[in-house]
Amino acid sequence: MKTAKLYSFFILALIGCINTLNAQLDEKTETKITEIISKMTLDQKIGQLALRGTSSRTKVLPEQLKQDVRDGKVGAFLNVMKTDYVDELQTIAVKESALGIPLVFSRDVIHGFKTIFPIPLGLAASWDAETAKTSARVSAIEGSSFGVRWTFAPMLDIARDSRWGRIAESPGEDPYLASVLAKAYVEGFQTDNLADQTAMASCAKHFIGYGAAIGGRDYNTAIIHEPLLRNVYLKPFEAAIEAGAPTVMTSFNEVNGVPASGNKWLLSDVLRKEMNFNGFVVSDWDSVIEMIAHGYAADEKHAAELALNAGLDMEMTSKSYDNHVKALLKEGKVKEEQIDFLVRNILRIKFQLNLFEKPYRLKSHTGNLYAPEHLAKAKAAAIKSSVLLKNENNTLPLAATTKVAVIGPLADAPREQLGTWTFDGEKEHSVTPLQAFTDAKASFTFVKALTHSRDQSEKKFEAAVKAAEQSDVVVVFAGEEAILSGEAHSRANIDLPGAQEALIKAVAKTGKPVVLVIMAGRPITITNIIDDVDTVLMAWHPGTMAGPALYDIIYGKSEPQGRLPVTWPKTSGQLPLFYNHKNTGRPSSVESFVQMDDIPVGAWQSSLGNTTHYLDAGFTPHFPFGYGLGYTTFALSNLKLSKTELTKAETLEVTVSIKNTGDRAGEEVVQLYIQDKVGSLTRPVRELKRFKRVKLNKGETKTVSFSIAAKDLEFVNNTMKSVLESGEFNIYVGQHSASGLMATFTLK
Ligand code: NOJ
Repeated sequence: MKTAKLYSFFILALIGCINTLNAQLDEKTETKITEIISKMTLDQKIGQLALRGTSSRTKVLPEQLKQDVRDGKVGAFLNVMKTDYVDELQTIAVKESALGIPLVFSRDVIHGFKTIFPIPLGLAASWDAETAKTSARVSAIEGSSFGVRWTFAPMLDIARDSRWGRIAESPGEDPYLASVLAKAYVEGFQTDNLADQTAMASCAKHFIGYGAAIGGRDYNTAIIHEPLLRNVYLKPFEAAIEAGAPTVMTSFNEVNGVPASGNKWLLSDVLRKEMNFNGFVVSDWDSVIEMIAHGYAADEKHAAELALNAGLDMEMTSKSYDNHVKALLKEGKVKEEQIDFLVRNILRIKFQLNLFEKPYRLKSHTGNLYAPEHLAKAKAAAIKSSVLLKNENNTLPLAATTKVAVIGPLADAPREQLGTWTFDGEKEHSVTPLQAFTDAKASFTFVKALTHSRDQSEKKFEAAVKAAEQSDVVVVFAGEEAILSGEAHSRANIDLPGAQEALIKAVAKTGKPVVLVIMAGRPITITNIIDDVDTVLMAWHPGTMAGPALYDIIYGKSEPQGRLPVTWPKTSGQLPLFYNHKNTGRPSSVESFVQMDDIPVGAWQSSLGNTTHYLDAGFTPHFPFGYGLGYTTFALSNLKLSKTELTKAETLEVTVSIKNTGDRAGEEVVQLYIQDKVGSLTRPVRELKRFKRVKLNKGETKTVSFSIAAKDLEFVNNTMKSVLESGEFNIYVGQHSASGLMATFTLK
């Protein structure tokens, strides 16, 4: 006991010392920054606020660009992908510019640099912080070898609408899962030492509400009431900032009428004051001057004034700051202290990256591009991310002797399997499923049948049907090409494009079991074909190692381990669709649901007894948030709460037993949701609060425990304050958001 006390005293003292040391270091840095700023001309200050780009394909560095660096007119670069240019530009900045302030080089390193991991929505499906962290770490190791020390990731936009192309880049629909991932990404990109030359500063983006674009149309308006903004959309940003994300990118959209890039309340009050952010804010590409098209800024000069005063530190690509700061200062519309404040924020991060001491790319750091351990990690991530949605008669896994017809446009599409935002990933390094089947000498025949996912031609169906007839099982690799999701690539109809449904129906007619493997950037509506296939495996865009990962899953060497990070709709007409919705005054139910075809012709107008649902699509999704099968089954029992009455100072311990009831080892993600039954602002029907991955051998039983603190029950109500309200709560512990054992407790 005495030793334990002594030990904790020692730890506390150590933490105290570290804090004091950090404060002293911070103070020292701030003094250095003050000194630098005092020596800077106005032009040099404006220069620090500029993020300039070259194209990755630039053949020769333009002389003017070099001169701008020499004159201190550039603070940072994006997309300089020739290492010689990185070195040359940095040498000019450090040795030839008046104050020698180093540049920082940035890039969209989103889910891998050369070795590509699954798209972020896939990584979210892993429900595994370690997988997200690993993907970020490998990305940073590889990317930093090219001099990239700042990545425009993680993207933390909560997305409730699968039509939105950028859902592919998002952490999904849930603020808690997104927050767990946010922290993991930041830790992976940065390690605990931003000064490490293999660390990349992360950038939490897009601030804010970008994923709430009306109708899923990219760049569209977001209307988010403030409690929702705080309870849902801001959550992952809070987590990223708490984990040390030093930069934030504003979003293209307006939120409640004010574009994010000119929103002083958001950037100064919420982000800096409330969330204690002390890094710098970068605009999105031209988002400052896009405020003109929004109808918020009259012209470029006005746009600059709004963004500068809002607290947007660095302008990406557009030049409104360059062109207008001087006049704005002269006219008194912007104060020089504000410019100094923005410059200070940027220099602070350059110090944290240790660029003043070590500005140059470490030439001995090769990045281990495509190193076997990187590829192994990418493969493991693809396995963790794959979600098994249906598996009738245990069609998967296949026995080694099964004769397989491998069919479809995504079976051998090395570029497409990498997904969106993979500028640096090279398709020559992709291992496709076809390659994996070939390497493993599996018993199969291959017919592509469609040249790409949008191909409408049914000319090659005959060969596919023949191959199916001569095989035991058909495995169709279908989905979307990479370009059909991502920025500016929203779709109104999210069925399989082209003639893929027809292809599936044609091979299914043979009567052979059909396994559908989907590679896509979003949930794909499969209502038209679900009855034609025995198995559906969602692989997202799995990255470089798609082939070996899927091969192992198909033949049972690994089991698919992903769970849905978004609700999967039956039809895009249901969107937006998300599990943590409100009950309404007329909650939908099986009893009250009326099928369109059951309404008598000529029926009189009626509404009594009816509830919130669609006559044609009902009220349930195709697959709920959190859903995913494995190759074994689990049963939960014995849900226990440590108390049924809780004071606000207490913690609730929740335990549940889980048994592997199948006949092989497997992993389950046990999920804990709460429902606050009555609130001063109505509360969602469920909210995810905890989850745990557990591994169980065949027949094994384990106890899983969770702690819920009062803080977890807080929410922001319409006083805009976080409140903790007494009353009854339901707790659900289950395998997805629409299942689970239930218990109740009261918060006193
Ligand atoms: C626009 C995108 O919205 C953003 O996410 C990205 O980081 C920048 N372009 C830079 O490429």
